[in-house]
Amino acid sequence: MRQEVKHFSDLDALSQAALEILADALNEQGQTAQNHTFALALSGGSTPKTLFKLMGLPQNSSRLELRDLHYFWADERCVGPTEPQSNYKLAIDLFLNKVLPPPGNLHRIPGELPPKEAAHAYRNDLRGFFHHNASQDTVADLNVILLGLGGDGNTASLFPGSPALDETKAWVDVATAPASSPVPGRVTLTYPVINNAHTVVFLVSGMDKKPVLEEILAGTPEAWKKYPAARVKARERLFWLISDSTA
Ligand code: 6PG
Repeated sequence: MRQEVKHFSDLDALSQAALEILADALNEQGQTAQNHTFALALSGGSTPKTLFKLMGLPQNSSRLELRDLHYFWADERCVGPTEPQSNYKLAIDLFLNKVLPPPGNLHRIPGELPPKEAAHAYRNDLRGFFHHNASQDTVADLNVILLGLGGDGNTASLFPGSPALDETKAWVDVATAPASSPVPGRVTLTYPVINNAHTVVFLVSGMDKKPVLEEILAGTPEAWKKYPAARVKARERLFWLISDSTA
């Protein structure tokens, strides 16, 4: 696995770089992807918004043929798809409603269901897409996952101290965000799936993340224990795109 750490002066530059990483991944992996399908998992939070807007621009959307991609989510808040806190709605509003992939390409986590049912439904969706056969020990292999970093070291909905961190088999798990979060109920991809993705791209912005980020990038065993994002690997490429500025 190759790790690259890149610093940017602002979120525009960071997002442009993320777009080019996606373009490269599409070039490199697009032709070999199973059945010519390319699976991209998105995250919520504020940092990916600028990238999503770039993806919604006609020139980018047609150059990258974004209509043909299959969209998954790294995690979801347990709310319906039209609620303002929904990670699905964020992506729909910022680019997918412009790109207009066929409905079958949108693999959302049904946050309106009770968390366990939502996790089960999402797992089944992933299994179907990746032709998972229960008799074989295969794991979903997403092409690219976009992740964020929370101030407490969380990523996707993997929070410090959560039992979901110890999951070694299930592809999807339920999780609980800290009580301060507007929506504590979560459904999240687990490490087995995240760490089996070909390419993982962290989008990190804001000075508040700096101390945590420095510890994670130093790769100490303490950081591994404290910060869920520190346990993220990828099968081939891991990118950390960092901007101190959130604008
Ligand atoms: C979510 C995210 C979460 C987020 C980080 C960073 O649904 O909240 O998936 O993991 O990516 O907390 O969020 P910011 O980009 O807002 O800092």
